[in-house]
Amino acid sequence: MCGIVGYTGNENAAPILLAGLTKLEYRGYDSAGIAVRDLSRDDVAVVKSPGRLLNLIQKTDNGASVPGTCGVGHTRWATHGEPTETNAHPHSSADDDVVGVHNGIIENYQELKEKLLRHGYVFHSETDTEVAVNLVDYYYKKYKIGPIDAIAKAMVRIRGSYALALMFRDLPGEIWVARKDSPMVIGVTENSAFVASDVPAILSYTRQVYYIDNLEMARLTPGHVSFFNLDGDEVFKDLTEITWDAEAAEKGGFEHFMLKEIHEQPRAVRDTLGSYIREGAVDLSATGLTEELLRSLERIYIIGCGSAYHVGVSAKYVLEDMADIPVEVDLASEFRYRDPKIVKNSLVVVISQSGETADTLAALRLAKERGVPVLGIVNVVGSTIARECDYCMYTYAGPEIAVATTKAYSAQLINVYALAIELGRVRGVITEDRCGELISELNALPDKMAKVLENKERIQWFAAKYANARDIFFIGRGVDHAISLEGSLKMKEISYIHSEAYAAGELKHGTISLIEDGTLVIGVLTQNELLEKTVSNMVECKARGAYLMGLTSYGNYNIEDTANFTIYVPKAERHFIGSLAIIPLQLLGYYTGVAKGVDVDKPRNLAKSVTVE
Ligand code: AGP
Repeated sequence: MCGIVGYTGNENAAPILLAGLTKLEYRGYDSAGIAVRDLSRDDVAVVKSPGRLLNLIQKTDNGASVPGTCGVGHTRWATHGEPTETNAHPHSSADDDVVGVHNGIIENYQELKEKLLRHGYVFHSETDTEVAVNLVDYYYKKYKIGPIDAIAKAMVRIRGSYALALMFRDLPGEIWVARKDSPMVIGVTENSAFVASDVPAILSYTRQVYYIDNLEMARLTPGHVSFFNLDGDEVFKDLTEITWDAEAAEKGGFEHFMLKEIHEQPRAVRDTLGSYIREGAVDLSATGLTEELLRSLERIYIIGCGSAYHVGVSAKYVLEDMADIPVEVDLASEFRYRDPKIVKNSLVVVISQSGETADTLAALRLAKERGVPVLGIVNVVGSTIARECDYCMYTYAGPEIAVATTKAYSAQLINVYALAIELGRVRGVITEDRCGELISELNALPDKMAKVLENKERIQWFAAKYANARDIFFIGRGVDHAISLEGSLKMKEISYIHSEAYAAGELKHGTISLIEDGTLVIGVLTQNELLEKTVSNMVECKARGAYLMGLTSYGNYNIEDTANFTIYVPKAERHFIGSLAIIPLQLLGYYTGVAKGVDVDKPRNLAKSVTVE
């Protein structure tokens, strides 16, 4: 996701900003920019560049061509608007009186933009950030109030997540920041002050930092920081000494990016939900999908590779159940070489985190050649698949650094759930009341995911026991089968242990011959109406010497009569509980890989995006 840096002091700001942004490159981005105030002048110099940070460094002669001692910088991970120079941050208010950078997602930016347009504001970019900067400017001018009240009013109106860093023309040398849900850290020295999205950006200048809390703002001046709450009251904070080294800081204190991203899943799900659930209803308007198109559908084809394909397997169960529509799921590498019989009034859905997977892109192009509309569920804004699909439903997981996908997979599931609810509603399969219940269930997922993460130590202990396993089997029925597929892939790609996922009822048709004394069989048991059947399959394995792990929801304690080890997740709507069940399996693969000394962020033979056949 985006990276923010700010500096005010008695040194030239630009080189400090660029060096700080370099330390945030790991967060993933597609454009960058800086805004610097030379206190001898009345204006702010803004320089931006698409692509790599090096372009901006070269464009500014490593900051030498942008004099001034107060400034903000930004690396942008595109969410609203393509990765272009115009959309790059910093963004200025209509008359350049306020300049700012932002990390986060402003869910109601269209509504706020319309309000500002009615008040004569002009916009140049497609971003939600430009709206936020102009909103602060609007309150600052309309009420002729100081920055504290102007920012507070904007914070009250904005819905979503933000880490904002602003400079005001009439407040030279000051940086004003505000935070809700997005990360932000503030550093200070005797004669300077810093703000950043993450510690690595400022670690070479100071280890003395403040952590600003949600819905707080701060004023940074050289050597001093003041904090204020929404009421404008000053709040006092203690300084914290950062003891991490730079590399640990990039991972937010986690040992690996994969573990950090597993823990980012509640936020990724919350941000994705926030983009498609508005006023208690599903809102797919940003995708371009119309009710008319959805109502006309007779069949859906879902295409993907790897984990994206596994999301498609989950989607089949969810969409067929909730929207009463036939769904076919296909591996992209198979679909593209078949002569797929696509019936009229169909929709092809391609799922891809990177938006660059060659097989998935080929499947998209084949569908379009057949004249079939294509919906893309993609995480990378402006990626090839995002640009070539007819309808695009972005996930908002932020950039995924670890090769093995976790948070993007979870965000893709959210898109599937939202699509299923809307499709069920327009097809008259789901009543408005039921829609409300389902949306409440969706909104409860992030907190339930966080609860699952609180029990990671038990999984870590179990992973150490099975780090030397030769074979591990994952079995389940219905949605549990789909989760088994993803759990098995995580185990294989991260721990290098051979693993297979099976529809539980299929084991006895051959594979059960592989079960030996001590073979680990993991039963995914979240679908209560199928649970007993899977338990029976587990018993068949136990009779042949298998060691059983059960994965089920709280309340199903009788599983412990069969399983040797049981992991529980909170109860949830049966179509959505897979989003909880996958977390222990992601952790199991991760901790098993760590126990085996695998480079879990970059496993052997794998690439983050398979752009070749
Ligand atoms: C998932 O952990 C793997 N890294 C891999 O299966 C991945 O899901 C697959 O290559 C598809 O990638 P995409 O989502 O970027 O298209």
